[in-house]
Amino acid sequence: MKRIESKSDYNEFYNKSMEQTDAYWAEVAESFTWIKKWDSVLSGGFENLDMKWFDGGKLNITENCIDRHLKDNADKVAIIWESNDPFEASKTYTYKELHENVCRFANVLKDMNVKKGDRVCFYMSMVPELLFGVLASARIGAIHSVVFGGFSANALAGRINDCKAQILITNDEAPRGNKSIPLKAIADEALESCSQVNTVLMLERTGNSNLVEGRDHVLNDLLSKADINCEAEEMDSESPLFILYTSGSTGQPKGLVHTTGGYMCWASETFKNVFQANDNDVFWCTADIGWITGHSYLSYGPLLNGATQVMFEGIPTWPDAGRFWNIVDKYKVSHFYTAPTAIRALQACDPKFVHDADLSSLKVLGSVGEPINEEAWEWYHKEIGKEKCPIVDTWWQTETGGIMISNLAGVTDAVPCHATKPLPGVEPVLVDGDNNILAETVSEGNLCINRPWPGMARTIYGDHDRYRQTYFSTFKGRYFTGDGAKRNADGNFRITGRVDDIINVSGHRLGTAEVEDAIDEHDKIVEAAVVGYPHDIKGQGIMAYVISTDPKMSDEEVMKELNAIITKHIGPIAKLDRLIVTPELPKTRSGKIMRRILRKIAANEFDTLGDTSTLLNPEVVELLIEKIKS
Ligand code: PRX
Repeated sequence: MKRIESKSDYNEFYNKSMEQTDAYWAEVAESFTWIKKWDSVLSGGFENLDMKWFDGGKLNITENCIDRHLKDNADKVAIIWESNDPFEASKTYTYKELHENVCRFANVLKDMNVKKGDRVCFYMSMVPELLFGVLASARIGAIHSVVFGGFSANALAGRINDCKAQILITNDEAPRGNKSIPLKAIADEALESCSQVNTVLMLERTGNSNLVEGRDHVLNDLLSKADINCEAEEMDSESPLFILYTSGSTGQPKGLVHTTGGYMCWASETFKNVFQANDNDVFWCTADIGWITGHSYLSYGPLLNGATQVMFEGIPTWPDAGRFWNIVDKYKVSHFYTAPTAIRALQACDPKFVHDADLSSLKVLGSVGEPINEEAWEWYHKEIGKEKCPIVDTWWQTETGGIMISNLAGVTDAVPCHATKPLPGVEPVLVDGDNNILAETVSEGNLCINRPWPGMARTIYGDHDRYRQTYFSTFKGRYFTGDGAKRNADGNFRITGRVDDIINVSGHRLGTAEVEDAIDEHDKIVEAAVVGYPHDIKGQGIMAYVISTDPKMSDEEVMKELNAIITKHIGPIAKLDRLIVTPELPKTRSGKIMRRILRKIAANEFDTLGDTSTLLNPEVVELLIEKIKS
């Protein structure tokens, strides 16, 4: 399928995707390698939640990511890997070398008796082997489930057990800035409660680890001995490709299941049209593979398009705040895709870090994961893009598989802080609380998607009913995103943020219930309510209101102890930024905590608290306001 190159292309493609959906997606799918073509393009729908794309089709996504490029581009660089340590030599892998490495890994998995449909859990840092492993898993038809290396043993165990994985792949340690995260030790602790895991493959990265006899194997040794060829397994278009866990509004994370053919088309098309990368460009998505952005715009999208990309093991501020910009300079990165939280953090640093690097290779900048504020957008545009690089503000979610609403770099208009227009195949609508479509162009409401698209998650692993409840029950007949949005007179969407009990901390999604469940583990805390509040760097910070049975403990002491518990249960990403100990929480007469009021207080919006007359204990509101002011 041709790339969208002009505004009129965009209109034409978009209209075709709406009016002749099957013909449009058939044309997209034609450009890939299929072992057998599909019988139908789209079947099923939102009514019975039985959507199938390219049903009857047979393929392997890795043949499309790798083998397809070997004929003409075997020696083109696929991956440039940059270590956490700026003095460690970088590694590059051509498409041919990528093929060899993925095949080696696939043969190791086979030797370990991993079969089609088995779940393979990865708990690794951003090493090339993580990427090889994910693709190797797809090559043999296993289902990968990557758990971000910042999650705790408890969180890892919950995810391993939910998808019943029998194999875990990890590193000894993950170098991150001047620290080393003991991944293997954390994994060992997790595995104490995962009795079904009988195999652990451990990559030696720092050489600091212990092995459990009979269960653990050193991955480096196995890979070096493995064969460099491995035939790709024939998969159904609707075979699960991966499970990725994300937070929900209950304490239990949801394992979203993405399938093969539709996801492939979505990751590939969105990458191509949004970023507009050309043959000699160098793409860099700074996300970790543990998140959906690292799946779709590091593992799959760029490779499906035969692109050259950077993979970075470290963090933006180590050894100093110039690290991102030095990497752009070093590899002549042309397309740079990151999160607003990183932009704001780097904006707050000495401008010399930006000015010392040559950023002239940059052509396109991207933003993802949370609303980008005006100040950060302007800085990104002026200081990083030197006012010559279009910024694509890409709105999407773990559930959507790939970008849904975004401008197309240099093709459609960028509007500061607006994700702008839907991509072909996406029919967004704004609805009010009663599911009425807001037909006026200028509107604000709940953002829903009105029809299936190829990249959408098909279910929650092991719980299709929860999938229905979470996404399709609030607004009948539509997929509810959980986000609020505004539409301006030109039809551009601006995402305003979550309207449910999910908070977005540094571009990472956390359920308030998950944090509250962790806090409940403290024996002196009787009740807790967690809310998000505006935070200069993180976008949203986490604030807890807690009732404690120990009046002698200061708020600081309580917060310290709770953060230790949260780190153990979820991971350091969920740590509290602020805490108030209170004798009561504002509740309705039926006993429900009034979170709306707690959110307003946390945001210092005392004048717009709204109606408090239905509260059982309105006096507590005054008390909380006093406490927060002091
Ligand atoms: O609230 C939206 C926000 O991130 C949520 C999805 O989080 P997650 O599944 O972790 O995926 C993040 C990476 C795609 C959304 O519901 N979000 C994502 N992108 C944007 C955004 N909010 C505003 N503007 C964006 N560009």
